[in-house]
Amino acid sequence: MSVGAAMVILNSADLEDGGKGLRFPLPALGQNVTGFVVRFKGKPYAYVNQCAHVSVELDWNEGEFFTAQQDYLICATHGAHYRPDNGFCVMGPCKGRSLKQLEVIEQNGQIIINTGAVI
Ligand code: FES
Repeated sequence: MSVGAAMVILNSADLEDGGKGLRFPLPALGQNVTGFVVRFKGKPYAYVNQCAHVSVELDWNEGEFFTAQQDYLICATHGAHYRPDNGFCVMGPCKGRSLKQLEVIEQNGQIIINTGAVI
């Protein structure tokens, strides 16, 4: 992983579809704030690692964001379920709200996350 001013670059090969997500620091948003990227149905999606309910990290073990069925991202604290492709909460205490999504592109075997662009 390399972290630039407003960009994180990861190897595409390190991101398995429906598997573990990759975390990265987001110092612009706070000292201990992290982001993460997951691959879902072939495409990478990146988010700020903060639940829309209470601002805690989602992963129940480091990098574990998916439900057992690999169909939703789940918050370890109270079980909110988010759509992996847009971060929309479909179930749980913050239903109807969304994760903060980060711009991400994949090209030439690399995943490039624009950490300065919450979309
Ligand atoms: S903190 Fe995530 S569901 Fe409550």
